[in-house]
Amino acid sequence: MSALRSAAWYAGRDRDGYIHRAWMRRGLPGSAFDGRPHIAVANTASDLTPCNLHLTDVAEHVKQGVWAAGGVPLNLPVVSLGETQLRPTAMLWRNMAAMATEEMLRANPIDGVVLLGGCDKTIPALLMAAASVDLPAVVVPGGPMLTGTFRGTALGCGTDVWRLSEEVRAGTLSEKDFLDSESAMIRSRGHCNTMGTASTMGLLAEVLGMVLPGTAGLPAADSRLLTQAHETGRLVVEMVAEDRRPSTLLTRGSFNNAIVALAAMGGSTNAVVHLLAIAGRLGVPLVLDDFDRIGTGVPLLVDLQPAGRHLMEDLHRAGGLAAVLREVLDLLDPEAITVTGRPLVESLHAARIWDQEVIRTRAAPLLPAAGIAVLRGNLAPAGAIIKPAAASPELLRHRGRAVVFDSVEDLHARIDDPGLDVDAASVLVLRGCGPRGYPGMPEVSNLPLPAKLLRAGVRDMVRVCDGRMSGTAYGTVVLHVCPEAAAGGPLDRIRTGDWITLDVAARRIDVELPQPELDARPPSPAMLAALARPTRGWERLYVDTVLGADTGADLTFLTGSSGHAVPRESH
Ligand code: FES
Repeated sequence: MSALRSAAWYAGRDRDGYIHRAWMRRGLPGSAFDGRPHIAVANTASDLTPCNLHLTDVAEHVKQGVWAAGGVPLNLPVVSLGETQLRPTAMLWRNMAAMATEEMLRANPIDGVVLLGGCDKTIPALLMAAASVDLPAVVVPGGPMLTGTFRGTALGCGTDVWRLSEEVRAGTLSEKDFLDSESAMIRSRGHCNTMGTASTMGLLAEVLGMVLPGTAGLPAADSRLLTQAHETGRLVVEMVAEDRRPSTLLTRGSFNNAIVALAAMGGSTNAVVHLLAIAGRLGVPLVLDDFDRIGTGVPLLVDLQPAGRHLMEDLHRAGGLAAVLREVLDLLDPEAITVTGRPLVESLHAARIWDQEVIRTRAAPLLPAAGIAVLRGNLAPAGAIIKPAAASPELLRHRGRAVVFDSVEDLHARIDDPGLDVDAASVLVLRGCGPRGYPGMPEVSNLPLPAKLLRAGVRDMVRVCDGRMSGTAYGTVVLHVCPEAAAGGPLDRIRTGDWITLDVAARRIDVELPQPELDARPPSPAMLAALARPTRGWERLYVDTVLGADTGADLTFLTGSSGHAVPRESH
């Protein structure tokens, strides 16, 4: 084993070594400085990130595992992002959390790190940080909450909020019943229990090879999560000894596996932008079209909300991630290894499906081909995405008149106006919601349907937006339209009344205008007036430097890796 990185702080017998050791002597045994690996436990627990609140308990078990394997565990609280609480949107802070975590991992005397995340943006941010600092790293996903029920019916955290609130707007559910369901939604510790972004990214972290196999998808309240946390603590000490780093795990093959898994699970569209960003940190040549090329032939096997019926607790009971992956074993890269140093596929052979209602077999899938379709056309020259499994089949080929909204505020002001000129065939367009425009690319693309159409029984319409969509949402939604309107994309020039055609089979999204006419139109003044123009702080830095969703919405200067060398010392 080569010399530990932390030895550069602790091994010297000079003044600097004295300082580094002395200030750490607050209960650590003297043996802590005899050449043992120092392991950071990067923890996103926060009272304001309720999905991650329990990670402090998980951290204690990780630490016990580190001690047991001869390492020294050290708490490292890192920036935490609570999806439901942060304004304007947690996505605005993903890159900041990644940057802050990366810098603290690099600047401190540590040899390896265990990353504790859960709520939507936390695992992506931690993986981006780990990729850029490239120290031995392993993730413990915090796990989903248990299934809550309301009046005998299971509640899908997130998805059922959309459904119930639409029922109130449609007049088929009273406001009192709606509010009564609130306390039943969150049954236990853990993150959202649908196949939303948190579940998707926790599971994909394991597919990428960054999680001890068998951990992702364990419910947060399941005592086996604590056992896995302990084993992860032991494992990271071994990873340091063998110099097993993210750059050796996060390969093209592991991203291919993640795309296959994303399709088979019916995972969140947000995974596209996160996987692109993580790959961008390591220079792995992953592009938007890879999601279509690799994923669309993959059968949909998991029947979970928002596209299906069940919830994460059911997925775990039915055999979990390993059972899903075993069904698509032939589509996985056999060379991609995990934090154990062994191929991912090797961990799948004993897996079984215990409930074929939740996890379908390859022979009887929910859909023979799922995945995420990448659309192009004169509305989205750099691409847009749609999740066909969450859409209405009859709308996947559609022509309709645009009803355009220039901002989220404009949408809210007019969507329920009885005088709004809209019908069931209209295409609802919302712009100015990309990374730069909002800023932060909020989850607003599944814009609510007009109340008068809801009352008439309409439950889905084609919607087009340059923002994101909650992983717990559903509908015929064309999202991540690139370039975004605020960056001069053609979405900024269309007008109410233009005809829009969507043809998912042909992978097209177009406005029926001659290209010279579209090019000659000025951007919408109302949209330009509504764009955020921050003058200072993180928001300013973000707006000035954020990349498009088609490449992961990272900052221009954060792509790539700086490694973990820190040659300078100030004392
Ligand atoms: Fe945290 Fe859904 S709000 S995972």
